[in-house]
Amino acid sequence: MKVVVIYESTRGRTKSMADAIAEGVVAAGKECEVVDAKDFNGIGDACAIAVGSSTRMKHVLPKVKQVLSGFQSLNGIPAAAYGSYGWSGEAPGIIAKQLEEKGAKLVEGQPISAKDYPNEETLNKCKDLGKTLADACR
Ligand SMILES: Cc1cc2nc3c(=O)[nH]c(=O)nc-3n(C[C@H](O)[C@H](O)[C@H](O)COP(=O)(O)O)c2cc1C
Repeated sequence: MKVVVIYESTRGRTKSMADAIAEGVVAAGKECEVVDAKDFNGIGDACAIAVGSSTRMKHVLPKVKQVLSGFQSLNGIPAAAYGSYGWSGEAPGIIAKQLEEKGAKLVEGQPISAKDYPNEETLNKCKDLGKTLADACR
């Protein structure tokens, strides 16, 4: 049972949020796998998931879009959305809505958005989110 943190990131900003979430998961005593959306191959025995993308043309990036449309029923799995943006920042909200529509249970403290590169405060929020996801794992 592990937390799976999926991301797509063009310049490493959303990736840095994924890594901070993973740090929070591990600090809370759970295993974590960080997966680039292009390599995603199913959630396996995940006990919680986080899905992140930066915003491009007001949408999520294409590989995360594929990951989201490939989910069958998420059956109450604890879940969170996150991502970096430049000006309008739609992606985390779109991801959260789709996770919920597929049956995931969104956890408190999500979605997390970061304008450009996440600052220390935002990275700390990401670590806290990791702890929340770890604690929600059954
Ligand atoms: C072609 C292109 C389109 C973009 N469109 C948007 C947009 O519609 N809204 C927005 O908030 N940011 C937009 N951005 C900005 C990115 O979301 C921003 O640079 C983000 O920090 C990239 O994070 P990443 O390194 O995780 O991909 C766009 C960037 C590019 C290159």
